[in-house]
Amino acid sequence: MWPLRNWNTHTPILLLAVLSIGLCHLTQAITITTTEYSLIKPVQEDVLISVGFECRGTPTIQWAFMSARGRRDIAVWQPGVYSNISEYYEDRLQTHTNGSITLSDLRLPDSGVYVVTVSDSTGSSKDATIILKVTEVLYEDLQYLSVFATVLGAMAGFLMISMWLLDKVYRRVKAWQQTRLPEHDATELQPL
Ligand SMILES: *[C@@H]1O[C@H](CO)[C@@H](O)[C@H](O)[C@H]1NC(C)=O
Ligand SMILES: *[C@@H]1O[C@H](CO)[C@@H](O)[C@H](O)[C@H]1NC(C)=O
Repeated sequence: MWPLRNWNTHTPILLLAVLSIGLCHLTQAITITTTEYSLIKPVQEDVLISVGFECRGTPTIQWAFMSARGRRDIAVWQPGVYSNISEYYEDRLQTHTNGSITLSDLRLPDSGVYVVTVSDSTGSSKDATIILKVTEVLYEDLQYLSVFATVLGAMAGFLMISMWLLDKVYRRVKAWQQTRLPEHDATELQPL
C-alpha cells in the first residue's frame, strides 16, 4: 500500500521537476533565425545580412567570412557594450543590435560564406551561415537589355515592312498617274 501511495504523491512533483528542467533548457537555448540562406547582389551595392536571435543575458555576436582563400574575422560585438570591427571591413560595415550586419560597396571577393556565432555568458553558442554571391552585372540590367533588343528588333521589322509597303503604294500611285495623265491632258486640251 505505502509504495503505491508514495508513487502517487511523488509522481507529479517528479514530473514538474523534469518539466521545469526542460523549460529551463528551452529558455536558455540560443536560437538564431535567418530569413534567407543565400543572397545575390551586384558589385558596389549594399547588402543587409539579416539575422535575428534569442538569448538570455548579454550576447556576444561574432561574424566571420569564409571562402576558398580561408577564414577572416569580420566583427565581434556586444550590443550596447562594445563593437570590434576588423580593419578590412572598418569603413564599410555596420553592425545592428539584432545581430545583423550591413556590408556596403560590395566587391567580387566578398562572395563567400558568412558565419554568425551568438554566444551567451554561460559559454554556450550557436552558429548560422548565409551565402553571399556578388555578381558583376545587375540581373535587371540584363533584363532591360533583352527587352531593349526585342523592342529594337520589332521596330526594325516594322520599319522594313512600312518601307516595303510605302514603296508598293508609291509604285501603284505612279503607275495610276501615268495611266490617268494622258487622258486628263487630252480632255483639257480639247477645248483649246
Ligand atoms: C535587424 O535590424 C536591421 C536594422 O535595424 C533591420 O533592417 C533588419 O530587418 C533586422 N532584421 C531582423 C531579422 O529583424
Ligand atoms: C578587436 O579585434 C582585434 C583583431 O580582430 C583584436 O586584436 C583586438 O584585441 C580586439 N579588441 C577588442 C577590444 O576586443
